[in-house]
Amino acid sequence: MSGDRIPDFVRRMQVRPTDRVLEIGCGHGVACGLVCAWLTSGQYLAIDRSRKMIDAASARNARFIEQGIATFLLADLETLDLGEQRRFDKIFAMRVGLFHRDPERARRLAERWLAPGGQLFVQYDTPA
Ligand SMILES: C[S@@+](CC[C@H](N)C(=O)[O-])C[C@H]1O[C@@H](n2cnc3c(N)ncnc32)[C@H](O)[C@@H]1O
Repeated sequence: MSGDRIPDFVRRMQVRPTDRVLEIGCGHGVACGLVCAWLTSGQYLAIDRSRKMIDAASARNARFIEQGIATFLLADLETLDLGEQRRFDKIFAMRVGLFHRDPERARRLAERWLAPGGQLFVQYDTPA
């Protein structure tokens, strides 16, 4: 898949300035800047279950963290607890294993965090 994979994916989500966005499995945090560029009063939260990835993504996106737009959280989708109030207009996951292995379960786990009318976007590569 080309180097345009992440920009193409983010473009398709049509992020709005006020969107509350959750990324599941952010890895190195490449999508963060592309999402945050669209946000004014909106917010971006990324989770990843790897401490190494959260540290790398946070360092890469320090500017957006300092601006109060982006937050990175060490957490696993399977045990994620964001409380009763926090919900998102757009949730996305790219190349996150659970969405290959058990898409129905992954979808249910992710959809818990959608606001009414919110959208879930998932991308994974099928074997060639
Ligand atoms: C293949 S990488 C993809 C990174 C990025 N989304 C991309 O497309 O380049 C998958 C990432 O998802 C994280 N991950 C896998 N399962 C997860 C889960 N259940 N909850 C949170 N993060 C998960 C991994 O730690 C890893 O950083």
